[in-house]
Amino acid sequence: MIDRTWLYRGVLAGVLSAVAGLCLAANVDVPALPASSAQAPESSPAKPFAPPAESSMPMDGFGKSVKLGEQIFTHTQTFAGKYVGNTLNCASCHLDAGRKADSSPLWGAYPLYPAYRSKNGHVNSFAERLQGCFMYSMNGKAPPLGDPVLVALESYAYWLAKGAPIGEKLPGQGYPKLPAPAQKADYARGGAIYAQHCALCHGADGQGQSSGGQAVFPPLWGAHSFNWGAGMGDIQNAAGFIKANMPLGLAGTLTDQQAWDVATFMDSHERPQDPRFVGSVEATRAKFHDSAYSMYGQTVNGQVLGASGSR
Ligand code: HEC
Ligand code: HEC
Repeated sequence: MIDRTWLYRGVLAGVLSAVAGLCLAANVDVPALPASSAQAPESSPAKPFAPPAESSMPMDGFGKSVKLGEQIFTHTQTFAGKYVGNTLNCASCHLDAGRKADSSPLWGAYPLYPAYRSKNGHVNSFAERLQGCFMYSMNGKAPPLGDPVLVALESYAYWLAKGAPIGEKLPGQGYPKLPAPAQKADYARGGAIYAQHCALCHGADGQGQSSGGQAVFPPLWGAHSFNWGAGMGDIQNAAGFIKANMPLGLAGTLTDQQAWDVATFMDSHERPQDPRFVGSVEATRAKFHDSAYSMYGQTVNGQVLGASGSR
């Protein structure tokens, strides 16, 4: 099997130098950021939790499950293909194999469950929280409770959270919540930012790039991306993710306003239908998307979003 990391590093090295060039060229019209906000997002000033080193992963029966969990997280289609309906990996949105602070790290998530979620109106176990990722972010199917895929992912998260206090929200947990933008977020401004800072990797059409059948740069919208029920379809989540993590290798260089604008642009494109669809786009919006941060059911460029989402 070809290791995606190597493919990825090769393509990335070329692209990163190109991006650096573009950004230098662009610096003229981008307002300078104070050094502090360019270093780290304001939301996590404290030192993030340090998960155990990869080399300390146990080798026993438990360690095998931890290792499998890591493999599922970074090569989701390969190791959990029957539950996956797109070309993303868990690690496409939870960077550094779920270790990176401000990228919704697994060590930040594990100690917070069981938890009540307004998304489904009851207390969710960690395993049920993982099921949701497969249904929405991976546009697939929930593995049944007790399935080795869920057990492995839970083992990996538990191991990464070793020594973390239970029930406490650690600095770096989740994605940063950006303050409301100074100017109303704007699709057209977002499109210009996209063309300048994102299209090189994710494609002008948002479909990403693959090499040898493996997605090297993941699609941001369209049939192979996350579906309308996913957390990344919420503009506030997307803005926080983008500000803290994108453009890859240059995280923190966009202003908050740019992150809001480009998140609005990204989330204003068609993608697979919300699996909770209740028969019409209007009713589905009223039930699950009644939020200023969801573009589902809104009209953009003459098209009602969600109306042509494949099912
Ligand atoms: C398209 C991006 C994306 C992909 C792919 C993705 N996630 Fe997530 N994940 C998110 C977002 C966004 C949130 C926060 C959602 C929210 O709070 O509504 C999240 C939240 C989570 C949480 C809860 C975090 C916390 O601190 O409470 C866990 C655990 C998680 N994801 C695991 C996974 C696993 C396992 C996979 C792969 C099977 C996966 N995710 C795939 C975007 C993604
Ligand atoms: C240098 C290449 C590069 C650039 C430039 C870049 N990205 Fe990404 N992006 C990636 C890679 C690679 C991943 C997946 C992370 C991984 O697999 O480690 C990713 C993941 C994502 C994801 C989560 C996965 C998905 O498909 O939804 C979003 C959203 C995203 N990028 C948005 C953006 C936006 C918006 C910009 C511009 C501000 C941008 N990216 C610029 C390489 C890039």
